[in-house]
Amino acid sequence: MVDTTVVVFDTTLRDGEQAPGFSMHIEEKLRLARQLDDLNVDIIEAGFPIASEADAESVRRVALEVRRPTIAALARCVAADIDCAGHALKPAARSRIHTFIATSDLHLERKLRITREQCLETAVNSVKRARQFTDDVQFSAEDATRSDMDFLRRVVEEVIAAGATTINLPDTVGYCTPDEITEFFTKVLASVPNASKAVFSTHCHDDLGLAVANSIAAVRAGVRQVECTINGIGERAGNASLEEVVMIANVRPERAGFKTLIKTPQLFPTSQLLAQLTGEAVQANKAIVGRNAFAHESGIHQDGMLKDRRTYEIMNPEDVGVPKTTLVLGKHSGRHAIQKRCEDLGFALSKLEVDRVYRRVIRLADHQKHISDAELISVIEEVKETATTQPIASTPSASSTAPAAHAHAQAPGNGGNGTAAAPPVEVGYGHGV
Ligand code: KIV
Ligand code: ZN
Repeated sequence: MVDTTVVVFDTTLRDGEQAPGFSMHIEEKLRLARQLDDLNVDIIEAGFPIASEADAESVRRVALEVRRPTIAALARCVAADIDCAGHALKPAARSRIHTFIATSDLHLERKLRITREQCLETAVNSVKRARQFTDDVQFSAEDATRSDMDFLRRVVEEVIAAGATTINLPDTVGYCTPDEITEFFTKVLASVPNASKAVFSTHCHDDLGLAVANSIAAVRAGVRQVECTINGIGERAGNASLEEVVMIANVRPERAGFKTLIKTPQLFPTSQLLAQLTGEAVQANKAIVGRNAFAHESGIHQDGMLKDRRTYEIMNPEDVGVPKTTLVLGKHSGRHAIQKRCEDLGFALSKLEVDRVYRRVIRLADHQKHISDAELISVIEEVKETATTQPIASTPSASSTAPAAHAHAQAPGNGGNGTAAAPPVEVGYGHGV
């Protein structure tokens, strides 16, 4: 049987850390590296040692202390970079030098100001130099997807012949579409004569929001390593998000056609740790790890969730390490969810009481985003108290124990002047459930 396991190459500590706002100190990098080990990534790219002494030291410390995964270090196709990476990686149980040079004419002419022939020669010499430190050498052709195909093929063939064991072809500026990426890798893999001697890798940036889709498309074409980052951090719009790539493989195996060795319950803790270390919050609606990824506020959704969670969730939160689904009480909530929360808080309410609590919660939520449990309890107590003193359509009690709740928890339809008005019109997403 064909092994469909894809190598997960995590570059949070290199491409991710390189992005504005995401820099980490050595001890922080070590903490994250240990967490990446718990997550079971195959390769940790720990940094770019020539960039600074601190970067070199953090690569050395990660290499020394994180023993299971392969530890990679980045180096331009420059002798000093390669030597620096080789030395920083010395303590590693398994090390990889990742050397790169741009291959697109745009980068060669405008940035590096060298010819294609010089690029080819530099690439080959660099791979040979890196092989003197380790037999695990990755070559990346920066801006590969915008490179001339014939030239790129030549480079790839020659660096494999020189000893590169992994060939990474990045979509450096996030320019490609998924169909294009599949076509691109299919062509390269079919036309480089020694392609079977190396593992091919994809490294997609998210400038058009396609990094994850492009990574999946690359795997479809035969790529066996995916480069990605926690929370999708990285240069500009970021890299392919590790948690998304992994969960696509898990949730849709029949479509994705690959698997990973990632321990998915560690996804959320890793995402949280990164946010804590960098002080950069995760986008609320971020797939898999955002705080809304397993939260429901609208009444229709809450009702569905309470009846059968599969109505609105395609994954179990526990499978990705999220403690549990949250039903958020807000202005879109419905009776069913409010009743359930009341029960969870230990209150058995009659149908009438639920109705009254519901109306007051919705009114209160017009003035604030969410209703906390303390506020809900205040509302419940107020409703209970009102029920013993007043008929149904009357004004709520003035003696609430929660000021926030009391301020806004008037019965809908009542102008607040003590006169009962016509029955309220129920508006909003969640009503009637
Ligand atoms: O995006 C890119 O091309 C890179 C390379 C250095 C691999 O990050
Ligand atoms: Zn990159």
